[in-house]
Amino acid sequence: MSDRLPLVAGNWKMNKTGPEARSYCERLLQLLGEMDETGAEIAVCPAFTALEIVAVALAGSGVWAAAQTMHEAPSGAYTGEVSALMIAASGARGVVIGHSERRAAGETDVQVSARARAALDQDLFPIVCVGESLERREAGETLPWLTSQVRAALAAVRADEGDRLAIAYEPIWAIGTGHTATPEIAQEACAHVRAIAGERLDPAVVRILYGGSVTPENAAALLSRPDVDGALVGGASLDPESFARIVAAA
Ligand code: PGA
Repeated sequence: MSDRLPLVAGNWKMNKTGPEARSYCERLLQLLGEMDETGAEIAVCPAFTALEIVAVALAGSGVWAAAQTMHEAPSGAYTGEVSALMIAASGARGVVIGHSERRAAGETDVQVSARARAALDQDLFPIVCVGESLERREAGETLPWLTSQVRAALAAVRADEGDRLAIAYEPIWAIGTGHTATPEIAQEACAHVRAIAGERLDPAVVRILYGGSVTPENAAALLSRPDVDGALVGGASLDPESFARIVAAA
């Protein structure tokens, strides 16, 4: 275990209306209150329509809200997009950037870098996602692929910002498939991501998360690895009981 505080973030994707999100938060806070001590920082990432509701419901609890994406421009004619300023004004404290489901819809490395910079400039905490496809893993290209994604994502980040962002290693083949990476695979990739992030940031400070079919059953083994500083949880974060059990494993 390192002395980095684990970060466990729940990515709800396109799930939960505002009222559903509010009751989720009430239940989650109740469950966390029943736990002895949570040795982790916790975030939940609702859809934009529930972001402010979640930020209000979690206010003062230490658990924070994060958006699932953002646009890099400060404002303007970008129909359907949301800026870092809008996210910050909603009360959210972070934003997921470069999720593979966004990259598959066209988000580029250049946008990921610009979005991370724009988020940091609004004092938002970016959780920047990287990860390889099954084809790349089978071709033995995982580590060079992660190198290029991490270098691109951090291109506009400053040397002293290592504690203001996290990087999530999310192998695409593990997302929503039930094929969780083994702790060994997660450790190898997270250690590599840390080493590359260390070209720009303090590697002892920046948190590297694992994401991809994390469950209450496999979380402890993944999170016990020295370079796995937390988890980005999709499906298993939708139920507050299951999410709280993952937090308890951190
Ligand atoms: P999953 O999603 O936990 O459902 O695999 C993870 C993610 O996409 O962040």
